[in-house]
Amino acid sequence: MRQSYTYVANLMSDFPTRFREAVGAGAALVQAPGTSDSVHAFARSVAAGLSDEPKWLHYRFLYDAEGSRLFEEITRQPEYYPTRTEAKILAKHAGEIKDVTGQVTLVELGSGYSVKTEYLLSAYSRDEEPVRYVPVDVSDSALRAASRSIAETFSDVEFTGINGTYRSAFPVLRQLSPQVLIFLGSSIGNFNDAEATSFWRSVADHLPAGNFFLLGVDLVKDVDVLEAAYNDAAGVTARFTKNYFARINGELGAALDLSQIEHSATWNPVLERMEIYARFHADQQLYVEPLDQTFDISAGERILIEVSRKYRLPKLQREFTAFGFDLRRVFTDEKKWYALLLLERIDDTLLRASYPSPTR
Ligand code: TRP
Repeated sequence: MRQSYTYVANLMSDFPTRFREAVGAGAALVQAPGTSDSVHAFARSVAAGLSDEPKWLHYRFLYDAEGSRLFEEITRQPEYYPTRTEAKILAKHAGEIKDVTGQVTLVELGSGYSVKTEYLLSAYSRDEEPVRYVPVDVSDSALRAASRSIAETFSDVEFTGINGTYRSAFPVLRQLSPQVLIFLGSSIGNFNDAEATSFWRSVADHLPAGNFFLLGVDLVKDVDVLEAAYNDAAGVTARFTKNYFARINGELGAALDLSQIEHSATWNPVLERMEIYARFHADQQLYVEPLDQTFDISAGERILIEVSRKYRLPKLQREFTAFGFDLRRVFTDEKKWYALLLLERIDDTLLRASYPSPTR
């Protein structure tokens, strides 16, 4: 165990070097180490979530090739307003965003098919200045499709994708400075509290002062609008949820009856977040072949698959200020349903000055 951990850690520390060489050699796609794609990582995550009470499954594994395709389809549903609203804001303000950041490298976490990013790419390549674009995604197929589509539309974009998790990209951010790190789709709302804190810490630690962070967040609004967005009438979101279990069947050797699993998304008014569950209608056994373990799921049981937190700006502002970010611009739509924040990483040495804690 210790051995394999050290091995991964070594590969990780070597990644910045490998990435620099790949960029130098003009590679369009770089594979990051420690990506979620290993069947064992998937099996361990599923086993951890199903051993817990109440049960959960980690949302990261929603995005296999089919999941990424289905999510793209969700973004085109009439009820799913976030993508459309965010795209509108980007279309309107991309030029202004570039005026604030200057001609910098664009790095995007969870880029998917990079559809919305094209508004930014067109602003940043307007004067036929070359622009470097480094999208990061766990889906290799989505990255390849993005690379083809961008090559067709933009001749001045240098595309170097990283196939890996958000975390795998942090060690290379320093060498991509000056940059704007882009995190769209209110994906930050999918983190639980601990993940959100460690995410802010990592972004703050790896973005040098003077670099920018462009963050899309979905805002608190009418519950009917919210619930409709996660229960589209065409049932695409339901298929997205079910695909998780199809993936478990296909990759982990389980034999779940998918017809007895139902998608259910509800608003939690206390935590101000959408909660997406899979509800089981019959007792089922979930066999995880790589670990040779079986988990029992009872009729009526709900498994949490994803949360999607909705924001209020004053509270969010306290959060990013504490991590050393200054708000440079905030863009929103006329209904105030969605916000795009342009943050700048500041020199926060003054924020960090403190007495040593008594435990040290
Ligand atoms: N980041 C998206 C969101 O929070 C992800 C998402 C949209 C999602 N619809 C979903 C995740 C349905 C799981 C199920 O809106």
